[in-house]
Amino acid sequence: MQLYLDSANIGQIKEAASWGILSGVTTNPSLLAKEDPNVDVKQRILEIHKLVGGHLSVEVISTDTTGMLREADEIISWFPEATIKIPMLPQGLAAVKELSKKNIPTNVTLIFNPIQALAAANAGATYVSVFLGRLDDIGMNSVSVLEEITNIWFVHNMDAQIIAASIRNPLHIIQSAKAGAHIATIPYSVLKQSLNHPLTDAGIQQFLKDYDKMQTEIQKIMVDDTDK
Ligand code: E4P
Repeated sequence: MQLYLDSANIGQIKEAASWGILSGVTTNPSLLAKEDPNVDVKQRILEIHKLVGGHLSVEVISTDTTGMLREADEIISWFPEATIKIPMLPQGLAAVKELSKKNIPTNVTLIFNPIQALAAANAGATYVSVFLGRLDDIGMNSVSVLEEITNIWFVHNMDAQIIAASIRNPLHIIQSAKAGAHIATIPYSVLKQSLNHPLTDAGIQQFLKDYDKMQTEIQKIMVDDTDK
């Protein structure tokens, strides 16, 4: 399962990209607005693109097909390999169909059930984003919804890549990988938290302490030898 960062924060993206584990980045209007309500979206997206290259989803804000296609054209004029993120609406599916005819990658977002996922895949979506955290928020079992979708994908050998989105904790990442999601898009805080373990930190401290002890012993032996 590939790891994407779900962020529009340059510092976070720069740092996570430097770890060498990122395969892409997803953004959305809320993430962009959270950084700076007056953000210049084009400039911010181009900055992110410079850091992570092609696998970058940029979301449209129109809710009609024509508007979505117009926005998609604009985003592609910023960088041609953009993935156009389209909300799961009938008008969005129509836009996905048009974009897929031109081989433009699309990521259908805000998917909460298997039929939405199937519909997006049938429209020609490259990626379908299944939101886990928001399902949990309304008392649903997000992982079993994701498993239903991945089972259908396996049975029918579907092409679209499943993105586990709205990830809220490290367990979501493990559950997404076990369920067979192709990608998990993860907020910076959750990714960073997932990479840490107190036993790793304690182990490093112990290794360094033992190494220092060994160096001190060697120094002592060398001093003793020169004294003879
Ligand atoms: C996915 O592409 C979305 O940007 C994201 O995962 C939404 O997550 P949230 O529910 O934490 O806002």
